[in-house]
Amino acid sequence: RVDCHPQPGASQESCEARGCTWCTTDVPNAPWCFFPEDSPYGYSLGGNAEKTDKGWSKLTVSPSVCHRWDSPLVDLFFSNQYLQITTAVPSTSVYGFGEHEHVSFKHSMDFVTYGMYSRDQAPTPNANLYGVHPFYMCVEDDSNAHGVLLLNSNAQDVSLSPNPSLTFRTIGGILDFYVFLGPTPENVVQQYTEAIGRPHMPAYWSLGFQLSRWGYGSIDVLKETVNRMHHYDIPYDVQHLDIDYMERRLDFTYDKENFAGLPEYLQELRKAGMHNVIILDPFISKDEEPGTYKPYDLGEEMGVWVNNSDGVTPAVGEAWPPGHSVFPDYTNPRTVEWWTQLCLEFKNVLDYDGIWIDMNEPSNFLRGQFPGCADNDINNPPYIPSISDRSLAQKTLCPDSKTYLGEHYNTHSLFGWSQTEPTFHAAQQATGKRAFVLSRSTFVGSGKHGGHWLGDNFSQWKDMHYSIIGMLEFNLFGMPYIGADICGFNYNTTYELCLRWMQLGSFYPFSRNHNEQDPAFFGEEFAKISRATLRIRYSLLPYLYTLFYESHVHGNTVGYKVPSAWRGTYATVDAPLNKIPLFIRGGYILPEQAPATTTTKSRLNPFGLIVALNEQGEASGSLFWDDGDSIGESGPPL
Ligand SMILES: *[C@@H]1O[C@H](CO)[C@@H](O)[C@H](O)[C@H]1NC(C)=O
Ligand SMILES: *[C@@H]1O[C@H](CO)[C@@H](O)[C@H](O)[C@H]1NC(C)=O
Ligand SMILES: *[C@@H]1O[C@H](CO)[C@@H](O)[C@H](O)[C@H]1NC(C)=O
Repeated sequence: RVDCHPQPGASQESCEARGCTWCTTDVPNAPWCFFPEDSPYGYSLGGNAEKTDKGWSKLTVSPSVCHRWDSPLVDLFFSNQYLQITTAVPSTSVYGFGEHEHVSFKHSMDFVTYGMYSRDQAPTPNANLYGVHPFYMCVEDDSNAHGVLLLNSNAQDVSLSPNPSLTFRTIGGILDFYVFLGPTPENVVQQYTEAIGRPHMPAYWSLGFQLSRWGYGSIDVLKETVNRMHHYDIPYDVQHLDIDYMERRLDFTYDKENFAGLPEYLQELRKAGMHNVIILDPFISKDEEPGTYKPYDLGEEMGVWVNNSDGVTPAVGEAWPPGHSVFPDYTNPRTVEWWTQLCLEFKNVLDYDGIWIDMNEPSNFLRGQFPGCADNDINNPPYIPSISDRSLAQKTLCPDSKTYLGEHYNTHSLFGWSQTEPTFHAAQQATGKRAFVLSRSTFVGSGKHGGHWLGDNFSQWKDMHYSIIGMLEFNLFGMPYIGADICGFNYNTTYELCLRWMQLGSFYPFSRNHNEQDPAFFGEEFAKISRATLRIRYSLLPYLYTLFYESHVHGNTVGYKVPSAWRGTYATVDAPLNKIPLFIRGGYILPEQAPATTTTKSRLNPFGLIVALNEQGEASGSLFWDDGDSIGESGPPL
């Protein structure tokens, strides 16, 4: 059954009016309105095709892509605001599609639909979240794998059906498919990242443990937190500053009252071998006194904002800053100039090492900008994919807004992606070192210039579990610099959950705690256990760094690997609260280095090798080593 009435409110009448079959069923989620069984098989030109003044609609064409795409298909729809194609897949082992909170890595094929449209939304199972990755991998029963990308930035959804098949529906652009033939899952990711851009090479320090919180509120609380971490000698490289460091949440300012002395304090942290990351939001207040807020005045002068449908007046919405805000259009080269200049100048105010870009779905606290969205086909298309609120404007801008690259309708989900590259270059220029950019919204190819965290997760056991799935998925998407907020973000955590999460998070590629409960919060015993698990992370950093190098150069995934001599067995092991069970594959050599409280110090310590033999008594491994943050000739290949 392939759904013939994907929008809500199907009835027998509306179904049969489309020439489809209506048959109720108690199979959960199965469509009651579906394409008739005698729908055309394969692709053939003609069929129900109708000639229109712009070309053909309801066109079916002959198969031209590879053998995996030759199975039963129903109608291919190709119209201006509705494109649909169904393909059979050779097995039910389908992985990928993002960004969502998926409750299993391997998808259920029982009539599940995933919407894709970037959205500021806390992780909720199946809901469309911050980024868009229309990419999946399918592993066949003979364990051969292939991957498929639908390179399309419009709002879209995909339905997984048990026969097994996939139905793609998008409301614009073209059906631009790329197929990656593997044959191993690792090959698929290597081929995919060759096409979309290999992941950037992270600085060594950014593999250290990181701390952040929304709501330190004052420099005193920040200092207390840092001191507590140092008191317990907990490995810790990076301090993040969330929006409360800003004056009234205005980008490129800092709160000179509550955070008086922040520039000097960042220098102090730097002297202690640490690094600093600041947050920047993609909205600029338009309501400051003229002549007092350069980011707005200069941006206005340069014409860098996303505009209303008229193409000349800026779109005005509401976000963190007081009053109303405008939204930089990063697809515009003038915006890139403006942003770069401000980032460079701000480096002289706060000596940052990296930039964290948030809210770039883009988020707006209203449904569309002022005064609301006009009623037209762009804002209210005939079909809205299965996304939250079935609205393209909720919590963002109206689809008919204008960006340099095109209508917001087409470019909405590219906003975060378009901000990442200019921020990467600005950070690189400002620091003269390898750039650190952490972005909430991502798209195909974002991994080339940035990393990602899994969003505003909740402090719950299930979130900790799903974070593992999210990390595996972002490895498929070519963004291996990935982690979840350790201990969760929303809700208070508990002692046990936070401790287990610290232990797990010590093995995230990107390891950051972003909770009010930092590792030193719960007292001595907790701190001791956190310290021990982070010291394991730090001893293995040469290994993690080498994995990132392999990823940067060859596109490998970073993290868990299934050894090719692998035989599955189940074992029950002890896991008392103070211990995370850790296993090493036979046949591998892991480089290690004695840990310290920062990577600046640990990089000076002696190296060692952990050699784990396989059944043949052999082992091999590799090490990539450099100064850890150079770009250009002394750094790894770009
Ligand atoms: C937006 O409007 C400004 C004038 O206010 C103009 O300079 C700029 O080019 C416009 N940008 C787009 C993408 O329409
Ligand atoms: C958090 O949210 C992401 C999506 O942003 C999801 O993939 C992940 O599983 C969620 N849970 C955790 C603990 O990260
Ligand atoms: C969370 O914990 C803090 C103390 O750290 C407490 O003040 C606050 O009321 C708690 N919030 C909730 C929702 O339990």
